Amino acid sequence: MSDPVAVVRPGECHVWTARAVSVPSPALLALLDEGERARYDAFLRDEPRALYLTAHALLRQVTAAQLGTDPAGIVFTTVCHHCDGTPDRPHGKPGLPDSPLELSLSHSGEMVAVALTYTGPVGVDIEQATTRGELPLNVLAAVERAELDRLPESERRAAFIRYWARKEAVLKATGDGLMADPATLTVSAPGRPAELLHWAERVQPHPPVRLYDVETEKDYRAAVAVLGDACRVVPHHVEYSGDGVLRRPR
Ligand SMILES: CC(C)(COP(=O)(O)OP(=O)(O)OC[C@H]1O[C@@H](n2cnc3c(N)ncnc32)[C@H](O)[C@@H]1OP(=O)(O)O)[C@@H](O)C(=O)NCCC(=O)NCCS
Repeated sequence: MSDPVAVVRPGECHVWTARAVSVPSPALLALLDEGERARYDAFLRDEPRALYLTAHALLRQVTAAQLGTDPAGIVFTTVCHHCDGTPDRPHGKPGLPDSPLELSLSHSGEMVAVALTYTGPVGVDIEQATTRGELPLNVLAAVERAELDRLPESERRAAFIRYWARKEAVLKATGDGLMADPATLTVSAPGRPAELLHWAERVQPHPPVRLYDVETEKDYRAAVAVLGDACRVVPHHVEYSGDGVLRRPR
């Protein structure tokens, strides 16, 4: 079987998506560092715990393949734009201290996504499109909301999730996260190619924001944003065997 972990080349942004492992194998648990293990242990329910493990194990494995190093030995940093990053535990945008490789991870429902690129700061977001409950429409800009209103009721939820994944990808690439008001960003309509159209109140300058949808499972929507030159997005769907070995789906 082909190697599920491709090499990221300049000008590319690779995005791996995977379903959460159903059984937390010792091989994957052994990859987590002390801080990750503490977060893993703190989850009260099995599903989010497995999702967390899958995301962090996948991040370590695909990153290690690029760096030619041991996945368990990688030291990640976090940078918070809003504080010195130490109120309770390290938090903020994840990165690598001594490498130009940029990274991002996301988890939702039963799926995780990890993005790696050398092009510039990156943000990936994956969202389950089959959630229930009222949509938080206040995260949309006025034009996005008007666009959503024009759609038949049956298409609105999936369209909202597409908007949301695109916006969150941008906010994760810049490192703002949800401390920036998502309604100040306008992204292109769900049926159109992904693009950041406008960001009101954006004063902090940064390289151009490149936004791309990422193909994934039908009940999910995913997007990736990269700050810098346009790049080629290379999606990979991978899965874990019961003993924690990463492989391409059969
Ligand atoms: C980052 C954020 C947008 C993620 O939202 P989400 O939909 O719940 O989660 P996702 O699964 O898509 O992404 C989570 C991952 O984003 C990353 N992340 C966290 N903060 C980030 C930031 N500011 N920028 C980019 N990525 C961030 C982490 O790797 C996190 O994974 P982990 O929790 O397993 O370590 C949101 O949680 C947020 O804005 N948090 C920060 C809030 C903040 O800055 N508070 C101020 C503290 S002083």
